[in-house]
Amino acid sequence: MTEPPKGSLSRRRLLGVAGAGAVAAGAAGVGGFAYGKGSDGTEGVDGVDQARYDFGGAHQAGITTPAQDRLHFASFDVTTDSREQLIAMLKSWTEAAREMTTGNPVGEAVVAPYDAPPADTGEALGLSSAGLTLTFGFGPTLFEKDGKDRFGIADRQPAQLRELPHFPADNLDPERSNGDLCVQACAHDPQVAVHAIRNLARIGFGTVAMRWAQLGFGRTSSTSNRQVTARNLLGFKDGTANIKSQDRKELEKFVWVREDDDPKATWLAGGSYLVARRIKMQIEPWDRTSMREQETLVGRDRKEGAPLSGGTEFTEPDFELQGRDGPLIAVDAHVRLAHPKQNNGAKMLRRGYNFTDGATTLGRLDAGLFFIAFVRNPDEQYIPMQTQLSGKDALMEYLQHTGSGLFAVPPGVQSKDGFIGEGLFARA
Ligand code: HEM
Repeated sequence: MTEPPKGSLSRRRLLGVAGAGAVAAGAAGVGGFAYGKGSDGTEGVDGVDQARYDFGGAHQAGITTPAQDRLHFASFDVTTDSREQLIAMLKSWTEAAREMTTGNPVGEAVVAPYDAPPADTGEALGLSSAGLTLTFGFGPTLFEKDGKDRFGIADRQPAQLRELPHFPADNLDPERSNGDLCVQACAHDPQVAVHAIRNLARIGFGTVAMRWAQLGFGRTSSTSNRQVTARNLLGFKDGTANIKSQDRKELEKFVWVREDDDPKATWLAGGSYLVARRIKMQIEPWDRTSMREQETLVGRDRKEGAPLSGGTEFTEPDFELQGRDGPLIAVDAHVRLAHPKQNNGAKMLRRGYNFTDGATTLGRLDAGLFFIAFVRNPDEQYIPMQTQLSGKDALMEYLQHTGSGLFAVPPGVQSKDGFIGEGLFARA
C-alpha cells in the first residue's frame, strides 16, 4: 500500500486530493493510514477512520469489508403502490450512496435555491467518509403482502426469502422486526453512519417510512484476517472462527448466491441473504456469574479466546477431549453447538455489533448484540443452526431474541447508470 501523506483531511479536501470514483487500491491514504480497497473489502486497515470503500462492484460493500466500528441499521416499509416511484427512489438512493461513501454531501452538484431545504442535512460536513459502506436488502413483504403482488415482482421472490420461523424462546417485538427494505450503514464514525441513514430516509419521504432502526458500536466480528478479534458485551472475543474476506472458497460456498441457486431469483446472483437478530443480554446476572461458568457456557477461555480443549485462539477445538467430569468443551457450550461439525458443515459470515438502548424499567442495562449474518442459503445455514442454539445452547439462559429480519441483498451496482436492485426490476 502507498505511504500516505500526513495530516487530517476534511470531506471536501479528501475528494480534492483523491478525485471522485475509485479512490481504492493504490490511492494515497490519510493521517498515517491507507484507504480501503473496493467493495469486496479485500484490504483495509483495522480502526481506520478515514478508510474509503467503493460503492460499486460485483458484490455490495459492507459484507466482506473489514467490519467498521459503528452501525446504523434501518428497516423501511414502502408506503406507495407505484412501482415507478419505488424505482425512482432506489435510483436516488444509489446516487446518494455513491456520494456519501466517497465522503461528499448529498446533491453536491445541484445548486438548490436558498428558499428550498438543503439537499444534504449537513452534520457530516467536514468529516471524512470514515470507511462508510451502505448495504441494501429487500424483505419478503416487498414482493408480496396480504396476497398482493405489490410491484409486479412476486414471481421473482426467492423461495428462501420469507419471514423467519419462530424459534424456541423467541420474544420478538413486531415493532423491531421485518420490513420491506433494509439499509446497513457501517462506518468508523457514528455521525457518518447516522447521517447516511438520515439522508436516505429524507430522500425516501413519501415513498418509504422507517419501521425500526438499531444503532450499534464495537463490532463483534472480524471479517478480515488483518483485524484483531473484537469482544462482545459478555466480555468474550467474538469472530475468531468467522469466515474472513480472504477465505475466497468459503465466500463462494457460504455467502454469495449463484445464478443456478434459484430459477426464480437469478437477479440475486452475486448477492446474499442478510439475517438480523436483536439479541438482548441479561447483563447483570451474567456479571454475577463465575468465570468458570462463563467460560463453560461459551466453550472458550475469556482472556485469549482459546478453546477449552487447549491451545491458542485459532487452535481448532477438540470436542472429544475429556476432562475429569466429561468433555472439556461442554455438550451444551455455544461454540460446540455453533460449530460446522454440529451443523452439517454449515458456516456463515457474521458481522454483528454491540448495542445499548438505555435502561429497562427494572433499572438494568438494555443491552446486547445486534447479530447480523450473511448466508447463501438461510434454509441450510441459519435456520437449522438457530433452531439448535435456541433449543440447546446453555448461553441462551442469558439471551433473549427481541427483533428479527431476513432480507435478500442484491449484487453490487456495476455500471455508472445502474441502481440498487436493477436486475430485480428489469423487464424480461
Ligand atoms: C448474543 C448472542 C451471541 C453471543 C454472545 C455469541 C458469542 C460467541 C462467541 C464468544 C463465539 C466464539 C468466538 C468465535 O468463533 O467467534 C461464538 C462463535 C460462533 N457463534 Fe456465536 N454468539 C451469539 C449468537 C450467535 C448466533 C445467533 C449464531 C447463529 C445462529 C451464532 C453463531 C456462531 C458461530 C457460527 C460461531 C463459530 C463457531 C465455530 O465455528 O467455532 N452465534 N459466538
